[in-house]
Amino acid sequence: MSTPAQEDVITSNSLNNAAGLAPASAVSGDAGASAGAADPDRAVASRIRTFDNAKLRKDFDDQSAFLYLEDFLAPEVTAQLIAAARALLPEVNRNYLPGHKQGGSVSRHTIDRLAPFIAQLYRSKELIGWLEHLTGDRLLLSPADDPHAYALYYYTKPGDHIGWHYDTSYYDGRRYTLLLGVIDESSCRLDYELHTRNPDKADEPGSVQIPPGGLVFFDGDKLRHRITPALENEMRVSLTFEYVTDPNMRPWRRVISNLKDAIAYFGFRQVFSQFARRRGGNAGEGV
Ligand SMILES: [Fe+2]
Repeated sequence: MSTPAQEDVITSNSLNNAAGLAPASAVSGDAGASAGAADPDRAVASRIRTFDNAKLRKDFDDQSAFLYLEDFLAPEVTAQLIAAARALLPEVNRNYLPGHKQGGSVSRHTIDRLAPFIAQLYRSKELIGWLEHLTGDRLLLSPADDPHAYALYYYTKPGDHIGWHYDTSYYDGRRYTLLLGVIDESSCRLDYELHTRNPDKADEPGSVQIPPGGLVFFDGDKLRHRITPALENEMRVSLTFEYVTDPNMRPWRRVISNLKDAIAYFGFRQVFSQFARRRGGNAGEGV
């Protein structure tokens, strides 16, 4: 798996200290890393305690590895994510693939620099433990060079959308996507089809509009989904976390994955500067 010790160097505290930032001043310069900030682990635990987790596990299984919760995050966590998403607007990388997608994204590498609270939330043991309960799998962090490990996706211009797709795993094991609603001043919907890879169940369409703090969690290879186009003066931002069951990737898949990320999401500089330093990038599609 990845090397958490190496990745964990940047935290909100260390970044604040390194920058000489007082807690209050962090709000403007360090997106979402303000001190006084919610402890992600504790905040997640406080919410999970209130759920009927046995039922949620059954729901996840009954829906062929899909779950939607309208109200998941603690309000203080949602507030931090909203602040971070707005502060990171200048960092958004815009992409346009005719007939497939149009929108913006901010990769984990930028988040590590400017919004380490998000990286901490991604690594929350409470969060990962809860997701393991839902899936019955042991979940691992995505490798350090995977720009999708945690990323923000922006729908800010008319027509921003992503067409029907799966979050295909290029890894040797399964790839799960956790989507958190951050900003939704839009008419965008997540349309999906359950059971498309389950021969024993008929396909079942669904559609949700995910409010800030809402959650969608699914196995990327099993859920066919899309985001419908944004209209004029709309804004939608979602945060996705990617967890895997086996972080190994065949070399030829890595090449495809890196090219896809560079063209469709984060740009060549983001993807291949990481590639040069370590090994290659990753796979998949955001929502
Ligand atoms: Fe997706």
